[in-house]
Amino acid sequence: MTATGKPARSAWSGKWAFILAAAASAVGLGNMWRFPYLAAKYGGGTFLLTYLLLVFTFGVSLLLLETALGRLTGQSAIGAFKQFGRKYAFIGILASAVPFIITPYYCIIGGWVTKYAVAYLVDGPAALADGGGFFTGFITSDVESYLWMLVFMAVAFAVVALGVKGGIEKANLFMMPALIVMAVGIAVYTLTMPGALEGALYYLVPDFSKFSPELVVGALGQMFYSLSLAMGIMITYGSYLDRKSSLTQSVVRVGGFDLGVSFLAGLMIVPAAFVAMGSGEAVAANSGPSLMFVTLPAVFADMGGAAAAIGFLFFLLVLFAALTSAISLTETCVSIVQDGAGWSRRKSFAVVIAVVVVAGIVVNMGYNGLSFIEPLGAGTSLLDFFDFLSNSVVMPIVALLTCVFVGWVVKPKLIIDEVERSGPFRLKKPWTVMVKYIAPVLVVVILVAYVAQTFGIVTF
Ligand code: TRP
Repeated sequence: MTATGKPARSAWSGKWAFILAAAASAVGLGNMWRFPYLAAKYGGGTFLLTYLLLVFTFGVSLLLLETALGRLTGQSAIGAFKQFGRKYAFIGILASAVPFIITPYYCIIGGWVTKYAVAYLVDGPAALADGGGFFTGFITSDVESYLWMLVFMAVAFAVVALGVKGGIEKANLFMMPALIVMAVGIAVYTLTMPGALEGALYYLVPDFSKFSPELVVGALGQMFYSLSLAMGIMITYGSYLDRKSSLTQSVVRVGGFDLGVSFLAGLMIVPAAFVAMGSGEAVAANSGPSLMFVTLPAVFADMGGAAAAIGFLFFLLVLFAALTSAISLTETCVSIVQDGAGWSRRKSFAVVIAVVVVAGIVVNMGYNGLSFIEPLGAGTSLLDFFDFLSNSVVMPIVALLTCVFVGWVVKPKLIIDEVERSGPFRLKKPWTVMVKYIAPVLVVVILVAYVAQTFGIVTF
């Protein structure tokens, strides 16, 4: 207990501890798996440019807002909003729903990554590079796909239960740079493949005829997902932060780092997809959640004797990035239940495990027993649906409400003062305009245009 009678909150040991924790939560499957397939699907360079603009305007602004709100209130999402009136608590509650939607399907992809790391040792690189048959066979399997999901969950839950997170984080300190070095190596190798340069142009050069509301919704959702925004996480992280650390510097670093990793992952995968499929149209038409698991194995299989080692090492490093994210997602869910229901940590944890396991099993059934359910049109799965629900629906709404709340209810000055406690805030005018006007209007326009397009009211 502290002098104020509140239980002492955990605290970061300094600015770098915060930056590292925020970066570890940011870098995960979102960068390695999700970003490349979205870039491939939505016309390469056009998506890349849209994403870049969004991260450095809206993304970093919201990152700053959430961290400052957390530091100011010293609370996690629900408490932070509630502090300004009970009627605002619903924003925090809505934000808190996101980790519960994401965690089950995150663990399914985590299971795929685990399976691949092991398969490089057991089945060998050639077996995995058979044009997608291996992947489809595996994810639709009645037993195996569930097993690997459960293995991944078990490891994540064990780390949370045993409280050995510190060790994982230390390991991550060299695993993350190793992952980046490897991604650079693979990207360079990919670019030497015949036809890859054309793919690199597709990835780097915008073609504005590809621009669509769907692309912007995709980029927006990806930005929230990848930066762990609009789900209360950064509010909680900000609440552990001391008043000495400069917020503006920290959030730009986190945003820039996350973007860099995504960019690299795209450079590694999109040109390779181009080599395999031959044209931008084919890449766009055939890119989805399977991209990383089908395209990369083809690149690895090309590498001769080193293929098994490189494939194994790559998926092992991705596994680590996924694991740190899954651990932090699980912990978020536990603390939401703990704070919300007032239960003990033990009981809350047990409930979270039950919910995540059951939800994971149901979502995974979307690839076999329940594959007749195609929620977003032919060929889509339950996993696609939950991914869409959190990233393209709930998160934009939470971001909109958060901006309106700060811009018009509690007023931007409150956040600006908090930011200025620990350093200068030179861009406070543009930031205010962003939060009050641009961000809310942008989100509404994007969502309306997207819905209109989806229902065929307008065509772009
Ligand atoms: N940002 C993570 C990624 O890119 C995924 C994620 C979303 C996450 N929300 C989170 C990770 C909360 C940790 C905590 O993969």
